[in-house]
Amino acid sequence: MKILPVKKVRAEMEVPPDKSISHRALILSSMAEGRSIVHNLLESGDTLSTLRVMKEIGARFSGDFERMEIMPALWKEAARPLDCGNSGTTARIISGLLAGTPGLHILFGDESLSRRPMKRVIEPLKRMGALIFARNNDTLLPLSIKGGDLHGCTHDLQVASAQVKSAILLAGMKAEGITTVIEPVPSRDHTERMLDSMGAKMKINGRIVSIERGELNPVFFQIPGDVSSASFFLVLAILHPDASIIVRNVGLNERRTGLLKTLKKMGAEIEWTVEKTSPEPCGKIVAKSSRLTGLEIDTGLVPSMIDEIPLLALAGAKACGTTVIRGAGELRKKESDRITSTVENFRKLGVVIEELEDGFSIEGSQKIVGGRIDSAGDHRIAMLFAVAGILSEEGIEIGGADSVRISYPQFFKDIAEVCR
Ligand code: S3P
Repeated sequence: MKILPVKKVRAEMEVPPDKSISHRALILSSMAEGRSIVHNLLESGDTLSTLRVMKEIGARFSGDFERMEIMPALWKEAARPLDCGNSGTTARIISGLLAGTPGLHILFGDESLSRRPMKRVIEPLKRMGALIFARNNDTLLPLSIKGGDLHGCTHDLQVASAQVKSAILLAGMKAEGITTVIEPVPSRDHTERMLDSMGAKMKINGRIVSIERGELNPVFFQIPGDVSSASFFLVLAILHPDASIIVRNVGLNERRTGLLKTLKKMGAEIEWTVEKTSPEPCGKIVAKSSRLTGLEIDTGLVPSMIDEIPLLALAGAKACGTTVIRGAGELRKKESDRITSTVENFRKLGVVIEELEDGFSIEGSQKIVGGRIDSAGDHRIAMLFAVAGILSEEGIEIGGADSVRISYPQFFKDIAEVCR
């Protein structure tokens, strides 16, 4: 796949449904007491992993991704190990669900997922009474869970992780007593919003969420577009000299809009408007060609743009002055080590960038000559460098371009469309 520069970028578009919310809709609606209906689910590698695993443990789905009916699951012990593919969200959130589900459950993943930390979810679930054994001294997949009786307790998390928080809350739904999660910095709250709309016995006080055992009502839910997928087009519009893009029906949850706020601080012409909130804020984003100024990124915003931070390196390369990103060490634990895969690939294209332990530092006003990059099997790295290709002098060849199937299967078709 080779991406060439173009003269003009124009689009009024929608992006695929939100990945995080789609996972949660499939999992939480299976826990409800009646028939749920969910519209506009993401159909991609990761959500297919959740669908597959949920079916194996007794979930009942009918219809398609545009309109899915979900009946209460008839929980069962799967006859074989559960394949979570490339999806950390599947492995971690479903571990929380299975900790309180009777039976023996074995979870595994692909090469990338088998390298990603699981201790952060295993440890709290064990404290609640779950019996879990995992590879490498209980830190990595595959893992086995003997689901059973759990008791609530308070968890003071060391890292802000919505996946870990969600796993604990789902275990808390099955536990005796109260389960409390305290986050260092608030992470995305899609699980809490969905649980609240389903009538869960939950209390939220800033960074503290408590939950008790209780029944869940079915959901009727329309999933908005994924702001993380929209970000590639927004950054393209801002950095391209002749561009304007409108993205409609996109999720605008405050805990996901860190990139929009940071780009605005850098001087970007970007506006977003919430048009409805039920229960997720959703609306439109407009972005156009802008002149950016580099800055030191506010580390407090990191969790609300964790998947978008590599795009800030690209913005930094084109801004005026230096951009420094710190406090983003979690990027090393994603589908690839996203600090290294961002830095190494930029260097291959002739861009000067400094690798930091927990981020990067990049000088502005740089030319992106072009060349070949390797996505390291990471969907967000493939999409980042596709955008860089459009802004480059000679074009960029993307090795491992098919990884986009994980979150955005029609990405290259949509990119071609906006560059027509
Ligand atoms: C996600 C949470 C984030 C994010 C991931 C999706 C979720 O991970 O990077 O792409 O759906 O909860 P962490 O929970 O590890 O921060």
